Amino acid sequence: MALPIPPKTAAKPPHALSAAEALTPLIEATYTSPAIHCYVNGHRTVIDSPNPHWTLLDYIRAQPHLKGTKLGCGEGGCGACTIVLQAPDTSSGKRRIKHRAVNACLFPLVGVDGKHVITVEGIGSVAKPHALQERITKLHGSQCGFCTPGIVMSLYAMVRNAYDPETKRFSLSARDIELEGHLDGNLCRCTGYKPILNAAKTFIVEDLKGQLTEAEEKAEDGKLAREVVGLARNGCEGLPKVSCGRVGGCCRDAPSESDSENKSSTSTPPTEPSMTSTDDQVSAIVDTKKYPVVDSLVSGASYADPLKSKESAGAAQETKTATSLEAPVAGSKHGVPLIQFQEYAPDAELIFPSALWKYELQPLCYGNDKKIWFRPTNLEQLLELKDAYPSVKLVGGASEIQVEVRFKNSDFAVSAYVSDIPELKHTKLPTDTELENAKELVLAANTPLTEIEALCRQVYAKLGKRAIVLEALRKQLRYFAGRQIRNVASLAGNIATASPISDANPVLLAAGATLEVVSKSEGSVDLPISSFFVAYRTTTLPPDAVLSRVRIPLPAPGVREVLKAYKQAKRKDDDIAIVTAAFRIRLDSEGVVEDACLVYGGMAPTTKVSPKTQEALVGRRWFHSETLNAGLSALLQDYDLPYGVPGGMADYRKTLTLSFFFRFWHESAAELGLGEVDNQAIDEIHRAISTGTRDDYNPFEQRVVGKQIAHLSALKQCTGEAEYIDDIPRFEQELFGGLVLSSKAHANLVSVDWEPALAMPGAVGYIDKNSLPEGQNIWGSIKKDEPFFADGKVSHHGQVIGMVYGETALQAQAAAKAVKIEYEVLPAILTIDEAIEARSYFQHDKLLRKGLAITDEMDEAWAQCDRIFEGQTRMGGQEHFYLETNAALVIPSGEDGCMEVWSSTQNTMETQEFVSAVTGVPSNRINARVKRLGGGFGGKESRSVPFACYLAIAAKKEKRPMRLMLNRDEDMLLSGQRHPVQARWRVGVSKEGKLIALDADVYDNAGFSQDMSGAVMDRCITHFDNVYECPNVFLRGHVCKTNIHSNTAYRGFGAPQGMYFSETIMYNIAEGLGMDIDELRWKNLYKIGEHTPFLQKIDEDWHIPLLLEQLGRSSHYEKRKAAVAEFNAKNRWKKRGISLIPTKFGLSFATALHLNQASAYIKIYADGSVLLHHGGTEMGQGLYTKMCQIAAQELGTPLDAIFTQDSQTYQIANASPTAASSGSDLNGMAVKDACDQLNERLQPYREKLSKDATLKEIAHAAYLDRVNLAANGFWKMPRVGFTWGNYDIETVKPMYYYFTQGAGCSEVEVDLLTGDHTVLRTDLMMDVGNSINPAIDYGQIEGAFVQGQGLFTIEETLWTRNGELFTRGPGTYKIPGFSDIPQVFNVSLLRHDNDGKPLNWNHLRSVQSSKGIGEPPLFLGSTVFFALREAVKAARKMNGTRIEEGTEEGKWKLDSPATAERLRLAVGDDLVRRAKVKRNKGETNFLVAVA
Ligand SMILES: Cc1cc2nc3c(=O)[nH]c(=O)nc-3n(C[C@H](O)[C@H](O)[C@H](O)COP(=O)(O)OP(=O)(O)OC[C@H]3O[C@@H](n4cnc5c(N)ncnc54)[C@H](O)[C@@H]3O)c2cc1C
Ligand code: FES
Ligand code: FES
Repeated sequence: MALPIPPKTAAKPPHALSAAEALTPLIEATYTSPAIHCYVNGHRTVIDSPNPHWTLLDYIRAQPHLKGTKLGCGEGGCGACTIVLQAPDTSSGKRRIKHRAVNACLFPLVGVDGKHVITVEGIGSVAKPHALQERITKLHGSQCGFCTPGIVMSLYAMVRNAYDPETKRFSLSARDIELEGHLDGNLCRCTGYKPILNAAKTFIVEDLKGQLTEAEEKAEDGKLAREVVGLARNGCEGLPKVSCGRVGGCCRDAPSESDSENKSSTSTPPTEPSMTSTDDQVSAIVDTKKYPVVDSLVSGASYADPLKSKESAGAAQETKTATSLEAPVAGSKHGVPLIQFQEYAPDAELIFPSALWKYELQPLCYGNDKKIWFRPTNLEQLLELKDAYPSVKLVGGASEIQVEVRFKNSDFAVSAYVSDIPELKHTKLPTDTELENAKELVLAANTPLTEIEALCRQVYAKLGKRAIVLEALRKQLRYFAGRQIRNVASLAGNIATASPISDANPVLLAAGATLEVVSKSEGSVDLPISSFFVAYRTTTLPPDAVLSRVRIPLPAPGVREVLKAYKQAKRKDDDIAIVTAAFRIRLDSEGVVEDACLVYGGMAPTTKVSPKTQEALVGRRWFHSETLNAGLSALLQDYDLPYGVPGGMADYRKTLTLSFFFRFWHESAAELGLGEVDNQAIDEIHRAISTGTRDDYNPFEQRVVGKQIAHLSALKQCTGEAEYIDDIPRFEQELFGGLVLSSKAHANLVSVDWEPALAMPGAVGYIDKNSLPEGQNIWGSIKKDEPFFADGKVSHHGQVIGMVYGETALQAQAAAKAVKIEYEVLPAILTIDEAIEARSYFQHDKLLRKGLAITDEMDEAWAQCDRIFEGQTRMGGQEHFYLETNAALVIPSGEDGCMEVWSSTQNTMETQEFVSAVTGVPSNRINARVKRLGGGFGGKESRSVPFACYLAIAAKKEKRPMRLMLNRDEDMLLSGQRHPVQARWRVGVSKEGKLIALDADVYDNAGFSQDMSGAVMDRCITHFDNVYECPNVFLRGHVCKTNIHSNTAYRGFGAPQGMYFSETIMYNIAEGLGMDIDELRWKNLYKIGEHTPFLQKIDEDWHIPLLLEQLGRSSHYEKRKAAVAEFNAKNRWKKRGISLIPTKFGLSFATALHLNQASAYIKIYADGSVLLHHGGTEMGQGLYTKMCQIAAQELGTPLDAIFTQDSQTYQIANASPTAASSGSDLNGMAVKDACDQLNERLQPYREKLSKDATLKEIAHAAYLDRVNLAANGFWKMPRVGFTWGNYDIETVKPMYYYFTQGAGCSEVEVDLLTGDHTVLRTDLMMDVGNSINPAIDYGQIEGAFVQGQGLFTIEETLWTRNGELFTRGPGTYKIPGFSDIPQVFNVSLLRHDNDGKPLNWNHLRSVQSSKGIGEPPLFLGSTVFFALREAVKAARKMNGTRIEEGTEEGKWKLDSPATAERLRLAVGDDLVRRAKVKRNKGETNFLVAVA
């Protein structure tokens, strides 16, 4: 018998096909197109062989003339990168186009195929601005401008979608602008948002052919919407015979206008119906004109060709200047600004390219050997792909994936873009008949969330309560991420991610949704969502399957079922939930629970149902207090979080779990009509459309100074033409830096191996401590104590160890991550308490003594006191969150070691000095330059310096230009923050409440190096008095050395912290004495002639009493205070609070006397144009504008004759940093000095020529006479010169040149169940002297206030236990957004005494008698904090808990910031008590606050 021959070798085991094996046949058969076809700003664009690693933003920013779209965070959290995608909208069945605002930083480049990409450059330019760009400029909505293009584009999408070209109907309401979340994905750190909203609202008030019908239908917003419609239709005739309250003013507004009570309204009114502030407040007059007029006094310079001979000036060709005043003001009428816009013509907008209508998507594939992209065009192709290679990563909106790629080092080699697959992206709105019998609603899984939101709304409107689940889903989606993300993100992405804090999943689970998943092998399979989430971010989705549809069941008519959803986050808009929930109950006809499904997110590693609670509820009568109680008790068993639970906030999360259920019980009972319920437990905090005024009337205005002139760069900023460091065109041979950062807080560096980094693609070189000259690896602003590069050890997480540089930024960053570092970890000190215990301090022996403290006789002072109070008060830090992260560009010259050093710095001198030190080149060859910063707020005063130095070292080594722009997380890790502080204080008073003695130890958390922490502490203790006289004071400042980043200057520089302590102490005294807080304040206010704790005399310009009186009157404070008490007496679950607080802020660089100097350099050219340089930097605060105004005023020329190019050390030597609110004071005086010199030289020519002679004629004549037309101005601040330790009142010099003073009043409402709050109304009044430019000052006041509001409420910096900064991006760190600003926001300037006589600031010797304003109003953000404190105190009183502050059992404490967590836990109610988490021995909170 013949046998078969056995095989000679063993059979190969089956193996998964490699990507190449699996995908090559598919590519060859189907994916034949490798290029993206799209339009960009109206231009046909083919992107051949796109870079597969690029997002849309990477592509846009690589284009030479598209730098307007900014990188602010790279994680979808700031909106700086917003662009608009224009694409056909097939949902209506008509030929329509839709405009979607999108975050280009997340959006995959592949997704633009077949679409029209519109960037800010595409809609307008300085020469021909879009109406939005013009209006934001003229209404002062752009300060630093880095956020502005993104905001313009979000508004552009909104405005474009508001217009139907077919019917020519334009439908836009204030509600659309403010309450529908069009702007919730955009952040601005400068403006306080109000002017931007005002600019947007001009599109409502304008008469766009009277077609604002829909706004009227949305009657919920009541009066304002109706007024707006009335206004648009009828002008002011349709309104009461008072100011109509239109944004920016009404034609009925006039300086004499007195009745302003009816100007505005809100659906959640503050306690007093009156909305506006002072009776004599007047708004700017805003108008729309075909050809806006221009104020020729301000704008109208002309210049002629330079003349070299004795020709007459008139002989030359004249040209109008068109550079510096691109958005001219129309002028003013009796001191009230006139602002005129061009008409908006919706018909003239950029159209959808006709070629794209015809474009058919082709299967697309491109990439390289590291990464490859597919874009199938139908589901079948996608399933083929998944079947061939299951590891292919599906990409929907990329809002999850791109964050993983960028921040979690995920690398998906094969990706497929699925959001253009019709079967996955189109959800059809069912017809009415279909809906009538519908048992479920079917959603295509990758339908954008904004479309789902709209669909839910439409179906709910038709089906009513049967579709209550859709209303719940809509509510969750409304507060889901920002608009730009919702425009692209999908349910599929949310479900597949399986995040435990997903917002959609709880609703889908509670509703019992079914997921349809489809694969080539199995076809379509239904998976119930209840068994889909199996572990943390793990699902049962088969690897080769695609989520295709989500089916949401609808109950049959008549079923008694309710489903509601809730969410609590740190910030209401665009924030991930702390706890999120959806609850469904079904009752039988007797009201007994048949079925219950309670789902929570944020309480476990997955979205989780609550089995014990559900079991406890079924079979019970729902509307019975025992059921409520049983549910609450069972929830505690379902969610028994340990104290140190990951994510932290165990007490709060448990409390929220109960609170949501409590609210649901009430709400469902009301919904089902089960009986009388407490409606106050149901209502969440709602926001109304914001209103408010600026006191625009300026009786002191001059020809140029005193006028409300728009920021000179604002229009450029709005059109994207304004250049920031990273926008400067690339240089030949340029390289990019990538920083190597420590991953440990405190450790010895055992080894650093950079070889692997240099093996990475594109890497060119590496520098570290060994790359600096001997002894130069050290820097510091005041004390040199910080290494540029870590040397032997690291002292904070994120410390710079080295820098890799490479051909592109992405390559350099990737290479930096490849450096291998071995650490030997050491114990880290993070908090102030730990530093005190370890006695870890920097030397700082500054004391303040006054009265008996000078002679060490404080015991005597204490003996005089009737009552003594003590406390320990903490205040957290604050991230600057300027929108432009630190950036620098160094261009070495071929000769003499010279370098151009562009840096986003507030401090050109220090940049120059340290670049000189690290390169060994003298300062005279280093030109440190900055044109503008995208925000600074103190954060770029010193911490910007090392970045320029790193680049300079590398540039010198390679002889090539070097550039670096930090990622947001790097910036937050590295660049320091506002100092967290703590005070341990003791205060003594008489029984009448007069302050007698004050003693305190004050600590700031400096971090690992000193930076300016000592100076910050000095300002902190010199503002510890705020505005109160205390005869005996002993204050000691301590600077703690810890293992966190080096904290630094931040707007206010320690003063807000000091004044916060002061006001906390005042509240403690008032509460201890049972005295009214305002009475206590008045009793202790400084009087003229008294002395501060640093022995400075209070002079005659003391206006705090005036401010308190006038603001008290205009804000109706007393009446509203009574109304708040009445409100609180009637409301169980909402409480209100109100506070009126004064502030004084000392101006000058306090103890760094040498910094109080400035110089300016002015050159008048023979053609009459003027070039102005000074030492100040422009960071949005309008310094350049103010300086040009001063020069124009002094030189007698129109403003647009003056030009400032940038700040640079080649022009201005030894410039002080632009800081301490003294930029205008110092530089303004220097500018004036230069002008005075020039005017003196020009005087003979002014006399000789006619009195109408222009500067051009005068300058020309002087030039021909060989007169020097360049002048160097200089000023040093007189009088100041405080010396520590001099306690002699006669000889000690003032610390501050003067005090900027102000007062603020805020009223808030708190939801006691969640800790959520809203600011109902804020009124601010500042004494800014004679304002150089009130518009800029209002902007500073509003912006500083909102920054302060953030500081004292939602902005919380947190660390992990091992010392990593946890809050390092907009995802974890929340600054106020558009809907956090006060609902009514009034700002005014002090101008008169109480008898109406103009003030004259006798003691003020500043330029044009103006006052610095950048920092002073920030502290008034604390009015919100203290109002919240009052509201919570009212709740505690109601709950029978103690109201004294303290750490002992039963007392309470509200440290800053007053987060929702702190507020909720302070309420002292039964739910908090029940949810209290026991802290076992040794257990610590997951996250650490380091104050
Ligand atoms: C700034 C910011 C804010 C956010 N805020 C919130 C928030 O408030 N609430 C919240 O819940 N989430 C939030 N997210 C998370 C994220 O936006 C959501 O999870 C979103 O739904 C993801 O959808 P996407 O289409 O962008 O998913 P992608 O990022 O494209 O994909 C996410 C995952 O889903 C998979 N996937 C996509 N489509 C399919 C499909 N058809 N079949 C199978 N798998 C698929 C992908 O492979 C990937 O694993 C936020 C994200 C960011 C960046
Ligand atoms: S850069 Fe895109 S959202 Fe911040
Ligand atoms: S103007 Fe908005 S961030 Fe500066």
